[in-house]
Amino acid sequence: MFPQVHVVFIVKMICMLSAAILILIFLSYRRRKPNTVAFFHPYCNAGGGGERVLWCAIRSMQARFPKLKYIVYSGDRDASKEQILLRAKQRFDIEIDPSNVDFVFLKLRTIVEDRWYPRLTLLLQTLMGGVLALEALCYVCPTLMIDSMGYPLSLPVFKWLGGCRVAAYVHYPTISCDMMDVVARGETAFNNVEGIAQSPILSFLKLSYYKLFAQAYGLAGRAADVVMVNGSWTASHISQLWKQRCSIVFPPCDIEGLLAIPGRSEEILRNDKGVRILSIGQIRPEKNHRLQLEILKEVLKRAEKKKMHVKISLTIAGGCRNEDDERRVRELREYATQLGVENNLEWKLNVPYGELIELLNCSLISIHTMRNEHFGISVVEALAAGSIMVAHKSGGPSMDIVDPCEGVASVGYLATTKEEFASCILSIISLSPSSRSQIRESARLSSQRFSEEVFDEKWMQSIGGLIEAAA
Ligand SMILES: *[C@@H]1O[C@H](CO)[C@@H](O)[C@H](O)[C@H]1NC(C)=O
Ligand SMILES: *[C@@H]1O[C@H](CO)[C@@H](O)[C@H](O)[C@H]1NC(C)=O
Repeated sequence: MFPQVHVVFIVKMICMLSAAILILIFLSYRRRKPNTVAFFHPYCNAGGGGERVLWCAIRSMQARFPKLKYIVYSGDRDASKEQILLRAKQRFDIEIDPSNVDFVFLKLRTIVEDRWYPRLTLLLQTLMGGVLALEALCYVCPTLMIDSMGYPLSLPVFKWLGGCRVAAYVHYPTISCDMMDVVARGETAFNNVEGIAQSPILSFLKLSYYKLFAQAYGLAGRAADVVMVNGSWTASHISQLWKQRCSIVFPPCDIEGLLAIPGRSEEILRNDKGVRILSIGQIRPEKNHRLQLEILKEVLKRAEKKKMHVKISLTIAGGCRNEDDERRVRELREYATQLGVENNLEWKLNVPYGELIELLNCSLISIHTMRNEHFGISVVEALAAGSIMVAHKSGGPSMDIVDPCEGVASVGYLATTKEEFASCILSIISLSPSSRSQIRESARLSSQRFSEEVFDEKWMQSIGGLIEAAA
């Protein structure tokens, strides 16, 4: 008897589920809005790099297709349409025409917050993203849906249940081969705690979980009609996981103002024998500030040995968002004291933009030490500002941003170990002012590949056809 009851129950459940999905399909087809482009961007009021992409994309589409309607699915129910658009204007200086933009507010956004899922975060967050997409689809069914925040399940939901065209702009893969490598090699990292790294069984389980997840992620991604990615690093991972062709559309960086900075680092070097090195980045573990302190020590040691008679200092500027970050700063300060470099070190935490500009203005050299950074806006900004860049030889900085030609540094330098970083820094200091100014010039020129104009052009090239076909 018992197993039969079980079977009946399961059959009932399946019937109910299929009925619900059929009703949803029926509803969304009936409610499909013609000539509507929707962006799935639940955190559209956050003011980060992803939101800059969103607003730039909407602005350029409004200019090109003014007759279409634009919708943003947002979870920011505490802000009105006017407030959100005003913030885009204030934060990014991007003006959106309000007449053909509307917001659809989602009630369920709280389910995608990672604080609910201490375990299996990746899986649960992704699933909940799918549920959130279902909510969105119940309100409005657009002609074209663009996932601009990386909720992979929104693609099949809109495509198969809503019958929409779908596209994705991917900032970073939800899972990457690097993450799997870390587990496979039994390393400890910020996403792999020591307990798991040391146990072969746990490592095996975690790796299987990642592999399965990667398969499912690939299936979801294959629903996209057009895939755009924000750089070569993301492109290589996404094309592998999704088995899709993707176009690289670099995120728009606001470099106009930076290109105009005159720079007075040469003056400081000539008159005061001062060399300022700058590091800009949030105080997060993956940015590897410890390596920066070690580099400083190595540079000071070698400069003294060579009797270079320059006063070298490192300024660490960055956002410090919470208690974890503050604890990290305290630890880094202690480490600097241990290394004996604290007198050549300056901290500039949470300083306003104007002060960052002034820091760039004074810095002869900028360093960026994160391994496998996906893109690195701060690297582009340093190039545009005329601060000579030494970046980690990996990820976006190496593939997209700083590309030296045949050993002669044309745009900037790449390094991996503290010794290599130190050698690059010392050789920049020993170059003639005119060689340095040549590097600055080509760096500024190449930074323009990341301008808003180039973004508009590439975005339209990638997605214009889909819009024309859908409209
Ligand atoms: C591109 O993706 C990386 C990955 O996280 C991110 O750091 C970077 O800010 C992204 N660019 C933009 C404009 O958001
Ligand atoms: C940068 O340095 C130059 C030269 O000393 C100075 O004129 C300028 O005001 C400084 N700041 C900015 C933001 O350009």
